[in-house]
Amino acid sequence: MKITIIGTGYVGLVTGACLAEIGNDVFCLDVDPRKIDILNNGGVPIHEPGLREIIARTRAHGRITFSTDVKASVEHGEIQFIAVGTPPDEDGSADLQYVLEAARNIGRYMNGFKVIVDKSTVPVGTAERVRSVVMAELEARGAGGSDAHSFSVVSNPEFLKEGAAVEDFMRPDRIVIGIDDDERGRLAREKMKRLYAPFNRNHERTLYMDVRSAEFTKYAANAMLATRISFMNEMSNLADRVGADIEAVRRGIGSDPRIGYHFLYAGVGYGGSCFPKDVQALVRTAGENGHRLRILEAVEDVNHEQKQVLVQKIENVLGRDLTGRTFAVWGLSFKPNTDDMREAPSRRVIAALLARGARVRAYDPVALDEARRVFALDLAHEPDALARLSLVSSQEEALPDADALVILTEWKEFKSPDFMHMTSVLKNSVIFDGRNLYEPEAMAELGIDYYAIGRPHVQIDTAIHSSTDHGA
Ligand code: UDX
Repeated sequence: MKITIIGTGYVGLVTGACLAEIGNDVFCLDVDPRKIDILNNGGVPIHEPGLREIIARTRAHGRITFSTDVKASVEHGEIQFIAVGTPPDEDGSADLQYVLEAARNIGRYMNGFKVIVDKSTVPVGTAERVRSVVMAELEARGAGGSDAHSFSVVSNPEFLKEGAAVEDFMRPDRIVIGIDDDERGRLAREKMKRLYAPFNRNHERTLYMDVRSAEFTKYAANAMLATRISFMNEMSNLADRVGADIEAVRRGIGSDPRIGYHFLYAGVGYGGSCFPKDVQALVRTAGENGHRLRILEAVEDVNHEQKQVLVQKIENVLGRDLTGRTFAVWGLSFKPNTDDMREAPSRRVIAALLARGARVRAYDPVALDEARRVFALDLAHEPDALARLSLVSSQEEALPDADALVILTEWKEFKSPDFMHMTSVLKNSVIFDGRNLYEPEAMAELGIDYYAIGRPHVQIDTAIHSSTDHGA
């Protein structure tokens, strides 16, 4: 099928590449000529496992094109995916200017029946706004109401996890499609059904519903997941106070199939481009509709505070003034397998350590360039602090003579480090672990003073003693 993708950001690029991979003829449009240049020169502006290979393959076969030509893009696709950014406004609601601009262009240049798909995460009611904007453009062209220029607006939210987006697209849990119950809607449904047929081979995964419910589903899903995380983070803070182990509690509750094991990991708070923005936008939508989402307000508050919990633990051990201290930091991206640092807890934690006078030596397997850019902006007005941050190119390089190691992202390569080497080069054998990567008992036996999230702090002496007793 002939597909147009408007916006070559994260969602657009993954959607376009995967649809080309299964045999469609995909035209990707972006207003940013630099991005299009990179893509046309074989580059990929984001880090996403598998994406580079798919783009290289589909480009070589001529199934994917990158361009800034708006008119050509509208003429190309019978299905037009709007996958542009919806950044938060100052008040937290989603800024729809790019979505509506895309709609305007479609109305301006459309040359036949078009299925217009909202792929970006947009507030309930956006499809109707897109429809009005397209209609207004058609009327301005004198083409309003003509059958040759008919269209239907569809909501098809994405559920892609960064770092696993290609896999999520190719093997979706579900495909949500919101469609109008009218003649054009039925035509659109046929086209969407054909497009997604290859993903429904073994069993039907597509859920058809009305447009508003589809728009809402995306927000409700992310709000639910964010709620689970903030809930576990609150439980972990209480576990610290009552001497329980959140890891044991996680297993204990996860075994109930009504709860399940996923998304129950306590840590330094959620980040990324979706949860913080979507929770905020939903709270906002509720406000606009005269309703308060009290649970989600709390989810946000808890997450905000959670990003400081590790700093609090560091202060409890080393004192508030950290002048003269050096911290090795492992992990900067908001989660593993991505270089994305939007709302990453590392930004708050590192800024807090620098503000208390410390030096920070930080490493991340892929986010170093992004970190350089982000911290230069975050600390633009604090050159002294920025000068005390260095980004190093290996996890070992971060360690020598540091007062403690701080872990902020659960990259695989951090899970089983050479602890002997680590303790021989650190000034103090202390780890503050914001991702609960290690076992407190095992750490104490290695002589490491280990502080995690919601897990007991085992005294080193006790551990050595009990392990000797055990062996005897
Ligand atoms: C999320 C949704 O999962 C995806 O369906 C949606 O389309 C976009 O938003 P993403 O932001 O890529 O995807 O990351 P995700 O893996 O969901 O993690 C989000 C954040 O939650 C990360 O900061 C992660 O560290 C944190 N998290 C996740 C926890 O703190 N604990 C957990 O148990 C799980």
